[in-house]
Amino acid sequence: MKAIWCRIFLFCVVLISVVHGDTTIESVLKAKGDFSDIIEGASEAGLTSLYNNPSAKETVFTPNNTGLMNTLSQLDIGAIQALQLLQNHTLLRQLLLYGTVNQSISIASLSSGSHQFPSMLGPNLTLVKNSTGAFVNDVRVIQQDIAAGASEIQVVETLLIPPNVHIS
Ligand SMILES: *[C@@H]1O[C@H](CO)[C@@H](O)[C@H](O)[C@H]1NC(C)=O
Ligand SMILES: *[C@@H]1O[C@H](CO)[C@@H](O)[C@H](O)[C@H]1NC(C)=O
Ligand SMILES: *[C@@H]1O[C@H](CO)[C@@H](O)[C@H](O)[C@H]1NC(C)=O
Ligand SMILES: *[C@@H]1O[C@H](CO)[C@@H](O)[C@H](O)[C@H]1NC(C)=O
Ligand SMILES: *[C@@H]1O[C@H](CO)[C@@H](O)[C@H](O)[C@H]1NC(C)=O
Repeated sequence: MKAIWCRIFLFCVVLISVVHGDTTIESVLKAKGDFSDIIEGASEAGLTSLYNNPSAKETVFTPNNTGLMNTLSQLDIGAIQALQLLQNHTLLRQLLLYGTVNQSISIASLSSGSHQFPSMLGPNLTLVKNSTGAFVNDVRVIQQDIAAGASEIQVVETLLIPPNVHIS
């Protein structure tokens, strides 16, 4: 009898740690499926820890794979050039840090109007909430407030590009 309770207890401990260990920005993006490019970019840039820290309290503004591709084609960047960009780790870090705020932002709890948040790169991001929806630097948020542990994921239509950073 004792042995059974002991096994049930151990099973629960293992289950809880697996569930907890899994809830990061990266695990939620992986489960959603169409964010592999941004995850690969973070890994290339040596910024995996930005997305896989279970105790982080951050907000990530990220496009999905299609949004990223649309951003590149709007900038007239072809496939070969995109691969070259992926090798520029300085640029990748700038882009990823600009899309991350070191605090948890719930858009649902924000008042209407304009709000400024410091990106982890430095420059502020401007978040506007109005009757049309939510926008970051005028880029539409297409999916709001996806919880990832204590962090939040905000899916934006295209990649946020820092001021004075030129991609090409
Ligand atoms: C890499 O990106 C940085 C920052 O955007 C830029 O200054 C630099 O010229 C780029 N390097 C190459 C080799 O393209
Ligand atoms: C993020 O904020 C926490 C406190 O909220 C702080 O301890 C930590 O150093 C910050 N991280 C970065 C990379 O700024
Ligand atoms: C950046 O946003 C903070 C509020 O989060 C504000 O206090 C600060 O003045 C802003 N900085 C600039 C340069 O707008
Ligand atoms: C809401 O804000 C966005 C981004 O600034 C803007 O493009 C849009 O026109 C605004 N909508 C209204 C109804 O003011
Ligand atoms: C992915 O992003 C694109 C462009 O922002 C958007 O049109 C599309 O609806 C998104 N896909 C999903 C499944 O949310």
